[in-house]
Amino acid sequence: MIQSMIAILDLGSTENARIAREIRALGVYSEIFAHDIAPEALKAVPGVCGVILNGGENRIVNGAAIDVDPAIFELGLPVLAVDHNSPAHAADLEKWPEDSKTVLDAFIVRCGAERNWNMENFIADQVELLRKQIGNRKVLLALSGGVDSSVVAALLIKAVGDRLTCVHVNHGLLRKGEPEQVVRVFKDEMGANLIYVDAVDRFLDKLAGVSDPEKKRKIIGAEFIRVFEEEARKLDGIELLGQGTIYPDIIESGTKTAKMVKSHHNVGGLPEDLQFELVEPLKMLFKDEVRACGKALGLPDDMVYRQPFPGPGLGVRCLGAITRDRLEAVRESDAILREEFARNGLQGKVWQYFTVIPDLKSVGVRNHERYEGWPVILRAVNTVDAMTATVEELDWKLIHTLTERITHEVSGVNRVLVDVTPKPTGTIEWE
Ligand code: XMP
Repeated sequence: MIQSMIAILDLGSTENARIAREIRALGVYSEIFAHDIAPEALKAVPGVCGVILNGGENRIVNGAAIDVDPAIFELGLPVLAVDHNSPAHAADLEKWPEDSKTVLDAFIVRCGAERNWNMENFIADQVELLRKQIGNRKVLLALSGGVDSSVVAALLIKAVGDRLTCVHVNHGLLRKGEPEQVVRVFKDEMGANLIYVDAVDRFLDKLAGVSDPEKKRKIIGAEFIRVFEEEARKLDGIELLGQGTIYPDIIESGTKTAKMVKSHHNVGGLPEDLQFELVEPLKMLFKDEVRACGKALGLPDDMVYRQPFPGPGLGVRCLGAITRDRLEAVRESDAILREEFARNGLQGKVWQYFTVIPDLKSVGVRNHERYEGWPVILRAVNTVDAMTATVEELDWKLIHTLTERITHEVSGVNRVLVDVTPKPTGTIEWE
């Protein structure tokens, strides 16, 4: 089935992604293209039924205003030009109104677009496309248990079943219960070909005595690649590699006008000499669509609505040189925090929350005796894009419960502190 699609040509607007999302929310598929796409190429995009020229603040590139090929107007496709101040098309000049939904809705009608963008259709299309791309070949996937890799796994299992091999590397820095959940959901329930690699000792040995945060990150990243490569080389005849790339990764990697936000590394930054052809079924989805897709594929809610979790995991929350006892204390206190947040209706409401343990001890008292222990720091923040963040104002009663539980249930801890610092000046993580 070819679905209708509205093409957004990027003329330097920072609003491209928002507009694409709004169109999709109205039931029509939409994608962003570079402003200089050749008119023939645009006409040849499957399902294209309308074009939006989306101008904006980044319109001036190298001192000159960029523009589309005027032949775009001769393609016979309805064109909506917004904030598009080209003198040639001054008549089209319009600004996005407060309520762009009404304008977009009317434009969808003008394009005669079919409102058939939904998750059932997406999944059905992808299963067909994946089968076509993969054929009889085999696919490998690094399955971290994060939202994106989990949804890719579920989609590939549906499309090609046991021609998919998943590798889950447990580097010892995952949260409590995570490796077990990955094995339970994918191996036991979905019947995936899953290789579970217990690399805990290997990672912790490499990290022993390393206190510099950047060095810790580099060791974790490099070791991850090494472990994954070793597993990949043990397997014969695998030509394809699944990746959890999503649309914002592609948009952020830089269009011709937008400033590069960050260079995007694919999952685990796997080296090119592995020479795999990539399978990236989520590369046109926004995060909320990825979650909806996972839900439609039957993944559990706590996997699909999981809060963001950094690649280096608890390694950047066990401050300074990681020791096994302090790492366990981070893992246990994090589990208590998540449990209490869920119990108090804060799961899915607060963007990210976790515990941190610094490499210091203070004097305390337990059973009438002096007891030196670590403090646990509670951090709960809200943000839209992780560039800035505000602190969630926790209820005192909840803080008391957490203090009570953490100081009694987590070995080695004698104090609980609350981090009330927004970003800036703090970052979300401590390292
Ligand atoms: P910061 O600490 O920079 O964090 O305010 C912003 C967001 O990014 C996450 N984060 C990471 N994610 N690898 C990741 O995949 C990393 O090395 C990393 N460092 C921070 C952090 O959890 C927060 O959501």
